[in-house]
Amino acid sequence: MEENKKQSYELVATLQHVFGADRANVHLVHAPLRICPLGAHIDHQLGLVTGMTLDTPILLAYVPNQEGQVRVHSLNFAPPVAFNIDDVPPKGGPLWANYVRGAVVSLQQRFTLHYGIDGVIFGEMPIGGLSSSAAVGVAYLLALEDVNELVVTPTENIEFDRYIENEYIGLNNGILDQSVILLSDRRHLTYLDCESVNVSRIPSPLDEDDFDIVVAFSGLTRSLVNTDYNQRVSQCQTAAGMLLEWAGQPVPPSPVLRMVAPEIFGDYEDRLPEPLGKRARHFFTEMARVRLGVTSWETGELAAFGQLMAESGHSSIVNYECGSPHLISLYEILNDCPGVYGARFSGAGFRGCCIGLSDPAHREVIVETIERDYPARHPEMQDQFSVYFCKPDGSAQRVPLLE
Ligand code: GLA
Repeated sequence: MEENKKQSYELVATLQHVFGADRANVHLVHAPLRICPLGAHIDHQLGLVTGMTLDTPILLAYVPNQEGQVRVHSLNFAPPVAFNIDDVPPKGGPLWANYVRGAVVSLQQRFTLHYGIDGVIFGEMPIGGLSSSAAVGVAYLLALEDVNELVVTPTENIEFDRYIENEYIGLNNGILDQSVILLSDRRHLTYLDCESVNVSRIPSPLDEDDFDIVVAFSGLTRSLVNTDYNQRVSQCQTAAGMLLEWAGQPVPPSPVLRMVAPEIFGDYEDRLPEPLGKRARHFFTEMARVRLGVTSWETGELAAFGQLMAESGHSSIVNYECGSPHLISLYEILNDCPGVYGARFSGAGFRGCCIGLSDPAHREVIVETIERDYPARHPEMQDQFSVYFCKPDGSAQRVPLLE
């Protein structure tokens, strides 16, 4: 909280300095980053996923721009962005600018916008795996809705942010990230059915002092559009289409694995050519792990939940085949480390970080172990990696400016 207060103060000072904004008109959005302990790589197949947000948010301070200009300054990226809401540039450089451009275009699918924003945005954590992209997208949506006095529900914002990522940016991802960011609360595990978009918040006897969320950054960062993310999505769809066809069921134009009953997969698993068999195996085993995980969470069994996370990470490596050598090292180091209940890659898993649930009493040994073992395996990352211990947070929202 103290840290967020300091950062908000810096954002507001920059907003005043760069745009001459009046402090009395400044509003702030707090959009948390997210993790997905179980349910990896299955949201785009309309599977079941779990999530939590972290107490290390993206912060956006803004004032309305009456001329319809959108002018955003980032404390993480250069150069600043400026455009008019009536003339939004197509996707292009600088990459970070696409999220605010996409947010304007997304809202314009349904609303006429009259006002832009002057804003300053900042995120403290290194980029990769924690869905800073959905967090910034949601932050821009909330700010633009505020200055244009639009009333939009979190469920509608899930769809607006999906538009930014799928239609404007061109990443065929699911709705895990923005749903967790928009619908989580700090005392529960968020459990989302991506088919019905039904969200449950799973209670637990666990208290946030009982565990840390450990985040170990590999030092590798790059955009998902240039990874194999979309290729994996289309492999899952091809597998779904084949399974439906072999079972004599109708095959829609964009089949997904959720349309396939587990028994059908059981009957035809051996007939699927590789790597399609592995992709489908990941989907069906991950669905089972999510269901088991929800029960472990409800009964407060951290060790059992962590074990499922480690198994989920293993399936990401062998079935979904998305780990880079650096992330696989971190996965192995964390899962072997005393005090870690379980860990897996975060996000798409081609870069970024590994996340785990850990015992707060073991922070020191966890840091020591990573500092000893990770650079020993990847000396070029000696000065690039970092380790954080976070706590769960709530959902993205506009917050009052703290004095
Ligand atoms: C990225 C995507 C999400 C999801 C995860 C993997 O974060 O943006 O939609 O597919 O990877 O679970």
